[in-house]
Amino acid sequence: MNDAILKLEDVSYRYADGTRALDACSLTIRRGTRTAVLGANGAGKTTMFLHLNGILRPSAGQVYREGMPLDYSRGGLRNLRSKVGMVFQNPDSQLFSASVREDVSFGPMNLGLEEAVARKRVEEALLAVGMAEFADRPVHNLSYGQKKRVCIAGVLAMQPEIVVLDEPMAGLDAVMQEELTTVLERLHAAGMTIVIATHDLDFAYGWADEVVVLQSGRLLAHGTPAEVLMRPEVQGKLGATPLVAEITRSLSLIGIDLRDNGYLPRSKNELLKAIAAQTRQEDSL
Ligand SMILES: Nc1ncnc2c1ncn2[C@@H]1O[C@H](COP(=O)(O)OP(=O)(O)OP(=O)(O)O)[C@@H](O)[C@H]1O
Ligand SMILES: [Mg+2]
Repeated sequence: MNDAILKLEDVSYRYADGTRALDACSLTIRRGTRTAVLGANGAGKTTMFLHLNGILRPSAGQVYREGMPLDYSRGGLRNLRSKVGMVFQNPDSQLFSASVREDVSFGPMNLGLEEAVARKRVEEALLAVGMAEFADRPVHNLSYGQKKRVCIAGVLAMQPEIVVLDEPMAGLDAVMQEELTTVLERLHAAGMTIVIATHDLDFAYGWADEVVVLQSGRLLAHGTPAEVLMRPEVQGKLGATPLVAEITRSLSLIGIDLRDNGYLPRSKNELLKAIAAQTRQEDSL
């Protein structure tokens, strides 16, 4: 069921001061897929994301959801935002209620859900991001990472079809990053379409089905992580390579082939398992 759920067609965007932040970007996001959007600071990731839920409207080109051009009327945007949940890069631009619970409740209440249903969703979302015990705390006293988690809970509680997360891992501690990865896995397994902007190449390599690389507002590359992230010109622009891919390649240069039926390890755990399997093979020879 990999039909186009979101599509950008030749989208360009200029900010009021004349900055050209997106330049003729075309991109199709297929239903149920995990997409990582990469690119240097200022490449246009946030600007692109703000087009996906209609906060920004293209200066030229068109955005589509399920084959229909976005409807920028009040009702159209309301409907769009119930389908496309957005976690902003800066949590302070998303949180506005007094308490954590109030903030996370805002979306579900606005959907017109029954109170008991909304309350259940809110509690589940707070649990999912490890913030249940903070439900009655004032939002303004939370740490940066805690605010970020509350923003993520706010979007989860809406149960949108598509979640767009702008650098969700930035500012989260290692345990929470791991937990967020598990939450994302669960959402993916439940059929949600997920789009994430990140500077973490290792995460993108291990997690994404598709990787998009932006450079100065233009789409430099789009494809599978292995295809895109191993291209020298992409590596040059991003200034790095995924560590697992680099180790796999270095080992292949000294004759250790970690491929298993054509599958290369994509995460640290898969890499360690593949190396252990090789070692066992060597031992049995
Ligand atoms: N409100 C604004 N007015 C004018 N220019 C802007 C505005 N917001 C962003 N820009 C410019 O648009 C370009 C794209 O910015 P954007 O925030 O989309 O980049 P990004 O890829 O998200 O970067 P980062 O990795 O730092 O979050 C940059 O040149 C930036 O300076
Ligand atoms: Mg950004």
